[in-house]
Formats: sequence, structure tokens, C-alpha cells
Amino acid sequence: MKAESIRLAYTICTFEELSEKDKCLLEKAKEATYTSYSPFSHFCVGAAVELENGEVMQGSNQENASFTTGLCAERCVIFYANARYPDVPVKTIAIAARDTSGEFTANPTSPCGACRQVLSEIEYRYNKPMRVLLYGKEHVWVLESVSDLLPFKFNASSL
Ligand code: THU
Repeated sequence: MKAESIRLAYTICTFEELSEKDKCLLEKAKEATYTSYSPFSHFCVGAAVELENGEVMQGSNQENASFTTGLCAERCVIFYANARYPDVPVKTIAIAARDTSGEFTANPTSPCGACRQVLSEIEYRYNKPMRVLLYGKEHVWVLESVSDLLPFKFNASSL
């Protein structure tokens, strides 16, 4: 028997410490929270992606009275980007959320497990790491790869 451990790397910083490009993408994610359709949770999530061709796209969570048919902001924007530009890798995804008070969350909102799986597919599909920016009013987390969100991956190589 042997104990193993995994080291996950991420950076914690303030919004002001980010590059102008990252600030811009996070602003797009924040803006996208205002297009959220979340009458059931009142938790408004926005996501923005920057593609390798320079395109920036936004998405938000879309809920439904049949709860399980709704979609998270991350998958909304990733599927949209892939549908429009199937051959263009996604470089960075930025995520922000406003809670039930309507305020941006103090701490970063981390993607749910299903979204991590979908984000992970992007890295497998394009064979490139995708950066992840998670916004909180008090601090921002920056991850250089989805592998740091989902270390034990299931992908086509597992099939
Ligand atoms: N949600 C997202 O859009 N992204 C996440 O990473 C976490 C959760 C949405 C789903 C649902 O509409 C609401 O937030 C509350 O769970």
C-alpha cells in the first residue's frame, strides 16, 4: 500500500493585479450574469471565453421549471463557442456569479463537476491547456489548466 498525493496549482490575486486582458474577460463574465435566466435559484452565473482567433463569447446559466434540464453558464458558453468555431481552441474561460442578494460573490465560484468534465474535454479535444479565471470580489483565482480543477479525468483515452 502506498499513499499518493496530488498538487493542484492556482494563483490567488486581486482583480487589480490581473493583466488588462484577463480583467477584460472577467468583466465580460460579470456582464453575462445579467443575461442569466435563474428564476428558481436566483443565482446568476456568467461565463466568457476567449478563443485562439481572438473571438470573445459570453454565456449564462439558463434554468427551467423542469429543474434538471437547465444549463450552467460554463457549458452554455463552451457549447456555443464549439458550435460556432469547432476548429478553434478555447484559450481562457472566465466565470463570475451574483448571489441571491444580487451582489457579486465575495469568493470565486468554482465550476460544478459536470462543467469540469466538459471543460476538461476542451483540453483533450485541442490538446492544449485552457486557463480558468474565477472571480470573487475579494480575490480572484487563476488556474493555468482545467487539470487543476479535475485531476482524475475521464476522457477518450479511458474508453
Ligand atoms: N451554476 C452555474 O451556472 N455554474 C456553476 O458552476 C455552478 C452552478 C448555476 C446552475 C443553477 O442555475 C444555479 O447556478 C444554481 O445552482
